[in-house]
Amino acid sequence: MTEVVFLSHTGADSGAEQSTVAALASWPESEPRPVFLLGQSGAIQDRAAASRIDCEVVALDSASVGLKRSGAGLRRTVSGLLGLVRHAAKVRRVVDARSADVVVAISLKALIFGRLAVRRSRTVVWSLHDRVSPDYFPRLVVPVLRYVLPRLVDGVIVNSRSTLTTIRPGRTPVLVSAPATELDPRTFNPPGREVRSVVMVGRLAAWKGQDVFLEAFASAFADSDAEAYVVGGALFGEEDYESALRQQVGDLGIEDRVHLVGHVADPWAYLVDADVLVHASRIPEPFGLVVVQGLWARCAVVATTPGGPAEVITDGVDGLLVPCDDPGSLGRALSNLRNDAALRTRLAAAGHETARGYGARVTTPPLHEWLVAVHERGVAKHSVSETRGGSLRPPLGT
Ligand code: GLC
Repeated sequence: MTEVVFLSHTGADSGAEQSTVAALASWPESEPRPVFLLGQSGAIQDRAAASRIDCEVVALDSASVGLKRSGAGLRRTVSGLLGLVRHAAKVRRVVDARSADVVVAISLKALIFGRLAVRRSRTVVWSLHDRVSPDYFPRLVVPVLRYVLPRLVDGVIVNSRSTLTTIRPGRTPVLVSAPATELDPRTFNPPGREVRSVVMVGRLAAWKGQDVFLEAFASAFADSDAEAYVVGGALFGEEDYESALRQQVGDLGIEDRVHLVGHVADPWAYLVDADVLVHASRIPEPFGLVVVQGLWARCAVVATTPGGPAEVITDGVDGLLVPCDDPGSLGRALSNLRNDAALRTRLAAAGHETARGYGARVTTPPLHEWLVAVHERGVAKHSVSETRGGSLRPPLGT
């Protein structure tokens, strides 16, 4: 029996946290279910409660919560970092009380306080959900994340091969494991004879490219009744971006056909009748859970490449791929889908089958197997394993 604790700095209902809840919900029944330790309370607790997952909140102080990727001046950065160090002492008490064997940090802040909190006899794993590149992290931080942090842990989990290319883990064993997705059991309608509803799901952020989507939608669906749903909220202080989107919708003259829905607990509800799901990240997406959700929900999916979505979708077979940050290409892909019902039907049917392989019940057992093996020092240094089709490739020990 291996006791595992997952750590996050936030309580937000965001991708890395959602996939953790999905993995814990599918944890092997013979094993103790891990605890999810959060640095703030938030909507992810409701999701965890619905799956009967044990969540505990140890509140981070506000200076650390305010520590942002974009930087906030030296003074605030230092006091934020000191807050993370103080937090480590509190986390250590919880980890000790739970006699955790393995601690998995799912965010950068969690890795900082987790590494400081956890005694050497326990196993620390970094579950990396972001690409370590200067288009996402401050330039000076990138080398530390790329070369140093992976060597301070016992194992690194990355959510795609694309994410793996952004770090240099040295001897530390790596697992490429698609983040767990709960595949919703509802009945999803395949695309209709005409495109009526085009949906984009994801938190509002400039890098997620909701504006790229709106521009492409306006051009591909000019003179049509099709409606666009932008599902997602500004979770980490992107309110200015949200206002810019409202302005853009007005400028494009499509306010009667665009719905900025905000954050919802149940995005699947918007996929039941959706014909097309768009993913429009401006920079390479690390994985893109919503792409799998759209495929599962029998939407015709258009997503951006390079990045995680291009590892899931085979262009023209189970979805369409367009270059990042290119509203013209996205608009053309949407026009093709608009004009070709047979294409939509074909992509949606194949996509549903592709998504099946990403369900939490498929991806979690090999993830668990790898974590236990890392703890028992049964994973070779320098090794890169993958979870695929419900097992580890290559199998451990080969
Ligand atoms: C982060 C990444 C996203 C990924 C999710 C789960 O939110 O930005 O691409 O799908 O984590 O790994």
